[in-house]
Amino acid sequence: MATGAQRGTPSVLELPGASEELRTRLADGLAAVNALIEERVDHDDPFIAEAGAHLTAAGGKRFRPLLTLLASELGSGASTQVVAAAAGVELTHLASLYHDDVMDEADVRRGAPSANALYGNSTAILVGDLLFGTASDIVADLGPEAVKIQAQTFVRLCSGQIRDDRPTPPGVDPVEHHLGVLADKTGVLIATAARYGAMFGGCDAATVEVMREYGERLGMAFQLADDLIDIGSEADETGKTPGTDLREGKRTLPVLHVLASTDPADARLQALLTGDLSSDERLSEALTLLRAHPAMERAREHTEAVARQAQDVLASLPESDARSALHALATGVVHRVG
Ligand code: IPE
Ligand code: IPE
Ligand code: MG
Ligand code: MG
Ligand code: MG
Repeated sequence: MATGAQRGTPSVLELPGASEELRTRLADGLAAVNALIEERVDHDDPFIAEAGAHLTAAGGKRFRPLLTLLASELGSGASTQVVAAAAGVELTHLASLYHDDVMDEADVRRGAPSANALYGNSTAILVGDLLFGTASDIVADLGPEAVKIQAQTFVRLCSGQIRDDRPTPPGVDPVEHHLGVLADKTGVLIATAARYGAMFGGCDAATVEVMREYGERLGMAFQLADDLIDIGSEADETGKTPGTDLREGKRTLPVLHVLASTDPADARLQALLTGDLSSDERLSEALTLLRAHPAMERAREHTEAVARQAQDVLASLPESDARSALHALATGVVHRVG
């Protein structure tokens, strides 16, 4: 597991403005989170142990636990409880990835075959459920408030995923609807990661709320960036298959902009985006046209604006090393390539 985790961590640990001491504390905290996850994912049944550890061992950025650790630095820093909260969030995320790859028919995740590709859909779903149970077990030791937050987070996450898999309801603005789905499927868990960090770092209620709000906006920017990465990047940078969203007919922000265009020059791309993209040739043509389309720049500007909103929320906090690092993290989320 260490190799994969280390492969992913440097990009999120690039926090300009963070002191060497803070980076060391975060790296130590992440090592403790990884060790706890490894211990709790283990199982007496060797197959369940293997299938449950599969994606953790494959890598991942550990973005959410890093955020929990960083938010705790606004208070007294990483403690056993902060580490447990961070592990609970990462395991909740992990469970959602097992399920997401079934939904999105993804073959590759974290540079390895997805769980559904390896074990089939039923096992992938059940392993996701098991991991969610493990996450809940860890969070239960943090008390009823933490359990309530996790439960409400998972309800919102699932409601976002359900709506992500369905067409925009009639009469609803597609962009507004899409942004609401992103807030639910991704924003809320990242908000909870930040909120738990401040809560278990002993911060006052106002700071906990600032972190929740910052996390929600950061999470939106994170997903908007992920959607641009699906179009613009290469598989070796992301560990995922580029164009998965297009192939699945996902109407992400740049796609919505193209579909709303009345310029006749966009007709070919519109036809591709609304048609069957199961052929590699058509998918590759759609990706090439979309990459060069101004809708990408427009969506990128929107993503940067949401990241700036997250940074604005931090303004009410006193200046600190942790606050600067949280500010840098929002910039890093938008400019990441994987
Ligand atoms: C992927 O999350 C799912 C989204 C919400 C976009 P990450 O990009 O954090 O995936 P890992 O944990 O690094 O694999
Ligand atoms: C996934 O969004 C969001 C959740 C897992 C809740 P995506 O479907 O865009 O995530 P990736 O791109 O497969 O990681
Ligand atoms: Mg997916
Ligand atoms: Mg998905
Ligand atoms: Mg994606």
